[in-house]
Amino acid sequence: MEVVTTVAAVRERVRLWRAEGSRVALVPTMGNLHAGHLSLLAAARSRADRVITSVFVNPLQFGPAEDFAAYPRTLDEDERLLREAHCDLLFAPPVAEIYPEGGAQATMITVRGLSGILCGQFRPGHFAGVATVVAKLFNIVTPDVAVFGEKDYQQFIIIRRMTSDLLLPVEIIGAPTVRAPDGLALSSRNRFLSPADRAVAPAIYHALRAAVERLEAGDRDFIGIESGGWQALAVAGLRPDYFAVRDAVDLQAPRAPSRELVVLTAVRLGKARLIDNLRLALLR
Ligand code: PAF
Repeated sequence: MEVVTTVAAVRERVRLWRAEGSRVALVPTMGNLHAGHLSLLAAARSRADRVITSVFVNPLQFGPAEDFAAYPRTLDEDERLLREAHCDLLFAPPVAEIYPEGGAQATMITVRGLSGILCGQFRPGHFAGVATVVAKLFNIVTPDVAVFGEKDYQQFIIIRRMTSDLLLPVEIIGAPTVRAPDGLALSSRNRFLSPADRAVAPAIYHALRAAVERLEAGDRDFIGIESGGWQALAVAGLRPDYFAVRDAVDLQAPRAPSRELVVLTAVRLGKARLIDNLRLALLR
């Protein structure tokens, strides 16, 4: 695996691969890789001849009071895992390579209607930071396909919409959430949990499952399901930002033509803010 830190080096490598006729996949990450990321890599590998993983903790997507400084940075370990997973190229740029103008990023991408809801309400500017950096990464790598985790479901929907709105020639693939045996979704932020917090964290998955079971049983009292989920989380000692049932395609309220629903939640637990979701198809 080659490790590069500059835009020019990535572009040159991709140019050579293209000349051989190779199909290129990108797995964008912020590092601190775990089994969830490795599943994205496997999905990328099955769709392309060459796989690039980017490791970049993007300052633009963190609010002033958020965990940018504390976000775990484990590049040596990430590099080791990526070598084992047969990644072809690791792109780990310094901040100045992605933001050469310093903190002043005059051009931002906002996916209207999707960026301000759910997590966007609690993390203003977060999704504009994500969409902007992903567009930059697409511009640098020019991948044929890019893989994102469905744990960050709102992010996945936003990137898919941005890619389609901007006519970017990149196929966007969502890879299923990887869970611990007790149901907790794997996340780099799980390392912020104390042992006591970690013990109660599976309540997130249980609350989502209970909501999905009600929906599967035909219950369409969405408000009741949302408040039931909220209550279950609060009783377990978590502090939900939201617990919502939405149309899985556009994240708006469920309505008659909705074919697939998603139940999403974000909770605060100790020092961590955790997100998770479960989807279900509606039988017609
Ligand atoms: O999901 C993440 O790790 C990040 O939001 C992403 C997509 C790499 C953009 O910084």
